[in-house]
This record gives sequence, structure tokens and C-alpha cells, in this order.
Amino acid sequence: MAFISQDEINNIRSSVSIIDIVSSYIPLTQKGKNYFGVCPFHEDHSPSMSVSEERQIYKCFSCGAAGNVFTFVENYLNISFSEAVSLIAEKAGIRIKNNLRTTKEEKNKEEYTIMDLALKIYQNNLNAETGDKAIKYLNERNLNEIVRKDFDIGLSLDGNLLASLLIKKGYAETMLINLGLINKNGQIINDTFQNRIIFPIHDLEGKVIGFTARCYLNDIKPKYLNTKETYIFKKGNILYNYHRAKDSIRLKKEVILVEGNMDAIRMYANGIKNVIALMGTGITKEQVKSLKKLRAKIILMLDNDDAGETATYRIGNILEEEGLDIHIVRLNGAKDPDEYILKFKIDAIEENIKSAISFMDFKLNYLKKNKNLNSTVDLSEYIKSVIENLKNNNDEILKEVTLQKLSNDYNISYAVLKEQLKTEGKDKRKIIPDEQNKKRKSLYEKLVDEILYFMMNDKIYIKLYQTRLGIFPTKKERLIASEILYYYETHKNINIADFIAYAETTNVKKEIMDIIESVDIKDITESAMDELLKKLKKRIEDDEIKRLKEKLKNEFDPNKKIELAEKLVEIKKGSVESESY
Ligand code: UTP
Ligand code: MN
Repeated sequence: MAFISQDEINNIRSSVSIIDIVSSYIPLTQKGKNYFGVCPFHEDHSPSMSVSEERQIYKCFSCGAAGNVFTFVENYLNISFSEAVSLIAEKAGIRIKNNLRTTKEEKNKEEYTIMDLALKIYQNNLNAETGDKAIKYLNERNLNEIVRKDFDIGLSLDGNLLASLLIKKGYAETMLINLGLINKNGQIINDTFQNRIIFPIHDLEGKVIGFTARCYLNDIKPKYLNTKETYIFKKGNILYNYHRAKDSIRLKKEVILVEGNMDAIRMYANGIKNVIALMGTGITKEQVKSLKKLRAKIILMLDNDDAGETATYRIGNILEEEGLDIHIVRLNGAKDPDEYILKFKIDAIEENIKSAISFMDFKLNYLKKNKNLNSTVDLSEYIKSVIENLKNNNDEILKEVTLQKLSNDYNISYAVLKEQLKTEGKDKRKIIPDEQNKKRKSLYEKLVDEILYFMMNDKIYIKLYQTRLGIFPTKKERLIASEILYYYETHKNINIADFIAYAETTNVKKEIMDIIESVDIKDITESAMDELLKKLKKRIEDDEIKRLKEKLKNEFDPNKKIELAEKLVEIKKGSVESESY
């Protein structure tokens, strides 16, 4: 595999102008030094995104989205970072070798190689004589050879065949245990998955990171056994079939969300390719984030049971709060999309998808459940619950239409409903999560973030940090600072646009991007940095003084008391000096 160095990435980045690239996707207008456009990363109506020619970064003042030319295309086209680098290279006319891999992928190279190898072994098991019974099972489930190939389905055997093959290849036992492939009990090694049909699980970019394995010889619990959490397999980040579905989703601007992997496989194999499985009825913040990135309408099509219905309500609300457009399909006559297609054929499910109802219509029905609307108490509870749901909605027209409908259907004064929504809506004003995060930061965190931000922008700020401060008091900041210093030392220079590309390869990428997104500084000047460093120093000294005073109060040994008092004087003296430089 070709490997692309940081210098090559920087070369690609600096051979294009962020203004040219961004303006090829969204219109930009120049105002002074910067360019402005309507932010594509949130529901935006006025130009909140500024793009800087000078610093080669963009920043949205409304939602906080920020980054360099690569992260812009990455998020705009919903492709991986390395794909974004390739695309920009192409535009710049720079040739890079095939199979571009980022350093991040290089980092866990051996792990991915092992996962690929394990999958090959599982596939061989299925396609050799050992797989006869499993093939029979799969055929009975209408999973033919084409589907088996498309979804890389395999088979695990009993005992420790996988373990011994991989160990013979020279892979360390502990590595295989850490990847969740084998386990060790005393001296006995066994394969984690035994006598199960194997379905590989890919990350969003399509690398195999884990497996879900179904029993087939008899019904044993759990029905599906999944890879445990490993450092490459985080169940909360996974959306099954995402990597296969994303192109089709982008094209159709629509994604169908189902519960089970089998549902996704069945739909995809029958030509409905814009399908993703949640692998259950839970949804995590990370998954929501990945779904949001697709910028597509969401059709929730969960199982046809109570759990599926409750989950539709819960997940729908979570997605709706993120501003996503949600539609609902509830299937009748089969337990899940997989069964539905086998029973009624693909055209029937397509009809269901076409006539998906709005999430609000689903809620109007769902909230009626177990209520007798002839009873005044039940009816009033129902109306209140609908209003409760409306107040979190940002769609004014939808609110209006729903109130009208309630008023007509139940013969209640529209004015009363409207008034109720108004008072209900007041106490809980909606705070978007990003803003919540920003508010939660302490003054100390903000200060440190700002200093780190300056350091990413120019080496003069790194030098100021080194001479005036030298080290941050807390570990998280030290980690980020060490990445900045490392970048500076290896490149003898730093600018924020290139540092963002480098951040991609570190373990603190998220923290770095969080700083870039949350810090909002107009003047990046030496005197501003000076101010920040002074403030932080003062803060550190104040904390230290507080700590020593506390210690002094509880110390009874006179010698130690003197020692502490001397330290205190020392610090106080130092802080006076530093304030006057
Ligand atoms: P389902 O029980 O609906 O699975 O669970 P399914 O897709 O219908 O499976 P088949 O048709 O019986 O083969 C939905 C999802 O929940 C997860 C799996 O990801 C499954 O696809 N699950 C279910 C588990 O992780 N473990 C289990 O034991 C059961
Ligand atoms: Mn099923």
C-alpha cells in the first residue's frame, strides 16, 4: 500500500486555494479580507461561514464547523479524509500513487491485516466441505451465492482453528485476544466465534473491524454474538452497511434505517441500496453524527413489534432534535423488512417506502396508543402530549398545520391550543447541543484552548509559549501541546491549515478539532497571546497559592509549616514579577 507523507499532504493543500475549492461547491462573496457563504453543515439561511484566503481555513460562526480544504470536502461530500486528499490532489493535477492510505490507517495496519485474514479463513470454512450445513441454512434463508459473496459471509468452526492458523502465521496471542478473535482460559485457547455464520462488520470507510456471528445449528443464546469492544471496534460508532450504501444515499438523498443486519442485506440484495442497519434499537451520539453527515432524508423502518414501535418514537425524536427530516414506515404482515420482502416481494416494500408518513403523523397516532379518546382525561392528556412534542419542533408551518388538525379533529378552540404551545414553549427553549458544549466549558478551559489555538497558527506563538509558560498544568492540554510541538519540530514551521491535516493522524484529533471549532478569535497578535499567557500564569499561581494555604492550615509540624510558608512567599514574589514584565 502506498503511504502518503505529511509533506506530500501539505504540498497538495498548498497547491490549491481554499476559496477556489469551496466556491466550486457553494457560492462565496468577498467582504474585506474574507469570503462568506451559506454554511452547508447546518440549516443556514444567511451567510455564516467565512473562508479565509490568508489562513486557508473556513469557519462557521453559527454552528462552529471549521477546518481546512480537506475537511471541507470530506464533510461536504461525506467521504473519508484520504478520499478528500486524493480528490484535491486530482484537482491540483498532482499524481499520487494508487490505494492512498492515510497515516491513521497505517497506524493499526497489522490489526486490519489480521481482521482481513480472519475473514478469509471464515470464508474458506464456508466454501469448503465444512460449510455444507451452513450453506444449506443460508440457502433456506434465501441467501444465495451472490449475496454471500457481496456481504463476505463466512463460517466459524468449533475449537481453535482460527487461533492456531493465525498464531502459526506469527501473530501474537495477545493481539488476537485484544482483537476479540480468540480467548484464553488458563492455558486453553479457543476461538471466540464457534459454529456460527459470520458477517463481517466494516467501519464507515469499509475496513473490517469486527464480526457479528449468528447461530445456525440450533437456537442458542445469544442469537447473534458480536465482537467485544476493541480499540478498532467501537460498536457505538458503527452503522452496518454504511460503506456500501453511502453512494446510493448521496444520490437519492434518502437513507432507510432498519434494525437488523439481515434486513439491510435483504434490501440491498434486492436493489434497495440506500439502507443502513442500526444493529438493534439503540442509537448513539456518534451514530447520529454520522447520519447527519449524510445530509439525507431518513426513513425509519424498524421491526413490526412493540419494541420497534417504541424505538421508532425514541430514535425519531433524537434524530428530529438534530434537525433531520424523518419519515416512518410501519410494516404490516411480517415481523421485519427481511420477512416482509420474502413474503410480499420487493415491489411491496418499495410501495411502503414511497408512502412513508411524516414523523409528526406517526407521533399523532403513537401518542393515542392505550388511550380512550372519548374519555375527557385521556383526551386532554393526549392533546398535551402532542403539544409537548410540538414545542421541540422548529418547523413553524408544521406546528400550525398540526394545531389546526387537532382543533378540527377534537373540536377544541385553535386559540387555546396556540396559547398552550406558546406557554409550554417558553420554559424550555431549545439549546442546540453544540451551544451546550460551548457553554459547559470553564473559563480555564477556554483560556487554554485559546493559547493552543494561537500555537497552531504560527511558530511565534509556540516560542512565546515555550519561553513564558513551558508546560500546561493539565494532561489533556499537554497532549495537544506535544502534538503541536512535534509538528513544529519536524516541519520547522506551522500554520493552522496544515496542522489540521496533521491532526488527522493523531489520537487527539477530536480534541484538536474541538478547539478549532470552539475558539473564536479575530485578532491573532502577539499582544493578544501575551495577555492569554499572563492570565493562565496568574491562574496557575492562584491555584497553587490556594493549595499551599490549605496545606498550611492542616499542617502541624512547625518545620514543614515554615517550608510551606516560604514556598508561598516565593510564588507570590514570582507572580508580582511576571505581572510587571
Ligand atoms: P433481530 O432479532 O431483529 O435480528 O435483532 P434479525 O435481523 O431479525 O435476525 P435474524 O433474521 O433472526 O437472523 C436485530 C439486530 O439486533 C442485534 C443484531 O445486530 C440484529 O441484526 N442483535 C440481536 C444482537 O446483537 N444480538 C442478539 O442476540 C440479537
Ligand atoms: Mn429477521
